[in-house]
Amino acid sequence: MSLDPEVLATYERRTCAPFGRRRACVVGGEDHGAYRLLWAADPGGPADPCPGQFYMLAAASGWGGSDGRPYLPRAFSHARVAPDPDGPHRLGFLLEAVGPGTDRLAALATGEELWLSGPFGTGFRPPDPASHAGRAVLAGGGIGIAPILTLADELGRDATVLLGFRTARHAAAANLFDVKPRVATDDGSVGRHALVTDVLHDELDRDARATVFACGPPPMLEAVRALCAARGVEAQLALESGMACGYGACFGCVVPTRDGFLRLCLDGPVLDAARLETALFEGAGH
Ligand SMILES: Cc1cc2nc3c(=O)[nH]c(=O)nc-3n(C[C@H](O)[C@H](O)[C@H](O)COP(=O)(O)OP(=O)(O)OC[C@H]3O[C@@H](n4cnc5c(N)ncnc54)[C@H](O)[C@@H]3O)c2cc1C
Ligand code: FES
Repeated sequence: MSLDPEVLATYERRTCAPFGRRRACVVGGEDHGAYRLLWAADPGGPADPCPGQFYMLAAASGWGGSDGRPYLPRAFSHARVAPDPDGPHRLGFLLEAVGPGTDRLAALATGEELWLSGPFGTGFRPPDPASHAGRAVLAGGGIGIAPILTLADELGRDATVLLGFRTARHAAAANLFDVKPRVATDDGSVGRHALVTDVLHDELDRDARATVFACGPPPMLEAVRALCAARGVEAQLALESGMACGYGACFGCVVPTRDGFLRLCLDGPVLDAARLETALFEGAGH
């Protein structure tokens, strides 16, 4: 039996994370409105993880509360990478404290340690400069701006960045971007009173020669998928599902695609939008 070339290409893109978890020292943290950017010195992983890949994190102490939760590590995209001439490179993780794991990670102080493994999965593929669709349009919603930030860092001035947030408090994180993003908020307190997908709609109406890179909540990703499908615009979507291991062992992250079921930790979290019937599958999101 021969494999579909599209499926084979997916397998070939898979990366292998360094085996096992490593202890990483917290070297700083900054609040950006509703979010916290936590910096950790990675003692062992590659210094150039691909935007859209992710790490599994757990605090080295105080991870199990009185009820034992969160117990399992949690998945986080790196939001920024910084070289460190005196030691290992630094990884910045943008967190929204929504539960026991993110609460504990957001409370980590400089000098404390966390368990880190990764980078896992396949990230965004850079736009092909030779293609007429070489213009990169990046769309991030809420905490989904994390992998969009590191992709924007990599693409520099060549990227158009569109961000959507619930409130002004969340939109404060837009200041992290070097290239000035276009911002929309649900309540109209900052930027345009609209959804980020409304801004994307207008951007593609203006010029549809683009590749779209998106990360955000499932309804946003489904709107991006449908919008791009209707216009024949190529899109890459960074998806989320429940993840317990990151190594392809637990099958907790399985998602339905046109090619059958895929494990998002191996063959995602970034998938070509054209491979999905919908981004609103059961278990999508956190
Ligand atoms: C590949 C990947 C990359 C990710 N990258 C990031 C990242 O960069 N930054 C980040 O903060 N999170 C990120 N997440 C999401 C994060 O792993 C989950 O939100 C995680 O479950 C949080 O753990 P917890 O113990 O704090 O909350 P949990 O106990 O797991 O969740 C508590 C409750 O909050 C809800 N919830 C979870 N997340 C959110 C949210 N963002 N908004 C509203 N409600 C929510 C859950 O549905 C649940 O009801 C990523 C997930 C994946 C799969
Ligand atoms: S997270 Fe365990 S198989 Fe993907």
